[in-house]
Amino acid sequence: MTDLLNNATKVQNECLKKIDSSLIEKSKRPHFHLASPCGWINDPNGLSFYKGQLHLFFQYHPYSNKWGPMHWGHAVTKDFLSWNFLPVALAPDTNADIDGCFSGTAMEDGDFHLIVYTGVVSDNAVQNQCIAIGDGVEYKKLENNPVITASNIPFEYDVAHFRDPKVWKENGTYYVAAVIKTQDKSGALVIFKSENLKEWKFVSVADRSECKLGMMWECPDFFSLDENDVIVISPQEMKEDLEAGWHDGNNSVFMIGKMNRNEWKFNRKSVCQIDYGIDFYAPETTLLPDGRRIMMGWMHRWEGVSTPDDYLWTGMMTLPRELKINNGIVYQNPVRELESKRINPVSGKINLFVGKTTKADGVRGRHFDLLISFEGISSDSGSLEIQIASDEKYSTKINLDFEKYEMSFDRSRSGTRTDCETFRKFKFEIPSDGKFDVRLVCDTCSAELFACGGRYAFTNVFYSPLEAEEIKFTSSKALSFDYNFYTLV
Ligand code: FRU
Repeated sequence: MTDLLNNATKVQNECLKKIDSSLIEKSKRPHFHLASPCGWINDPNGLSFYKGQLHLFFQYHPYSNKWGPMHWGHAVTKDFLSWNFLPVALAPDTNADIDGCFSGTAMEDGDFHLIVYTGVVSDNAVQNQCIAIGDGVEYKKLENNPVITASNIPFEYDVAHFRDPKVWKENGTYYVAAVIKTQDKSGALVIFKSENLKEWKFVSVADRSECKLGMMWECPDFFSLDENDVIVISPQEMKEDLEAGWHDGNNSVFMIGKMNRNEWKFNRKSVCQIDYGIDFYAPETTLLPDGRRIMMGWMHRWEGVSTPDDYLWTGMMTLPRELKINNGIVYQNPVRELESKRINPVSGKINLFVGKTTKADGVRGRHFDLLISFEGISSDSGSLEIQIASDEKYSTKINLDFEKYEMSFDRSRSGTRTDCETFRKFKFEIPSDGKFDVRLVCDTCSAELFACGGRYAFTNVFYSPLEAEEIKFTSSKALSFDYNFYTLV
């Protein structure tokens, strides 16, 4: 192990000890989400099942709460909800990645755990693809890194933007899909293949933005699900378009279609937002041995990170979510294992009267799973406001406006001290049978909302003081709904 790697692990372990010995530090952390052990994390990397456990790596700068030279942190879980941190897996310590080990993916390959990641060398601002092979704890970089470089690409592109390889194996051949910035300054997905991991051949440009779907693309994924092929891309510099579901800046999208496996060209049939919230980016997926396709995203954002300055860490990941496709629509829901964390069930019906804020017995806290279902909803049903993490001073609001077909999240009274975006809204459809359901999973400082069976996901974080834990409902017209509430431990 190199000094850089050792040192990063040492700093991480000291931080974990500090957290473990302080009730205050512990109380700030989520209970069943992965949060940074120390310092900064961004993208999930290398989400993969290897030797009976789910592994997650992440973009990591353990030395401060700000992005810096990127390492790969590493954690494992057996139940998808409680994570053990392992030694830092990669540090920027070779000529091929001296300025950063950027995002990538991993897969089980026989006995080995194979990582493909981006090595950054800033002297001439170049990004190339590198490989490391490990046993689930220690990873050894190939001596002939970088293995995929500009020399593999038969046309001109911006060599400072070639990153985030997704690796998979098909009929005994390794494939990598990565993103590049083409001459029109927007993103494209390029595919390579190899028989031996060392020599790689360019295969195709599978899809590209042509400045229509954001500018540079980041963090691709590619998989088949329920008879569709799906590409995941996180495009930068998108323009807000409420009807299409985009917000300004970084978005993450599902592109659904068919990959022509002779030419490796993607026939894109539809594109949709993955998660409408403020805090969701760069998701990765993997296939579990039981056949489930799960996805995790970075539960934060690049612009205006809202973690309070006195935290020892910044950055969390979403819950692993199970994906399904039905009639061309992707549905996402928290892994079913979350149900094992439920205690103290409370259920009933709430009848709301105009202008009267209502609470329900036993419905409070900062760790909960709340399921609401409405019948007979139409554009005449008015709106419902749900306040969470609330007390006299603080309140975090979710508004379901059936008249405008809009859902919104407002953290302007959540106690945020940083100048960050506090409001986000998106458009939804009301199902034709008038049934509308919402599931809200809250864990200390995050709210992941799933509506209409998981058709819409809406993820936002808030760092209100922990004593703010009331949950209240208000409507603009008389409105009734059934609810099931569980505290999560
Ligand atoms: C996405 C991203 C990736 C890059 C990494 C650097 O959030 O910009 O494209 O590899 O973060 O940390």
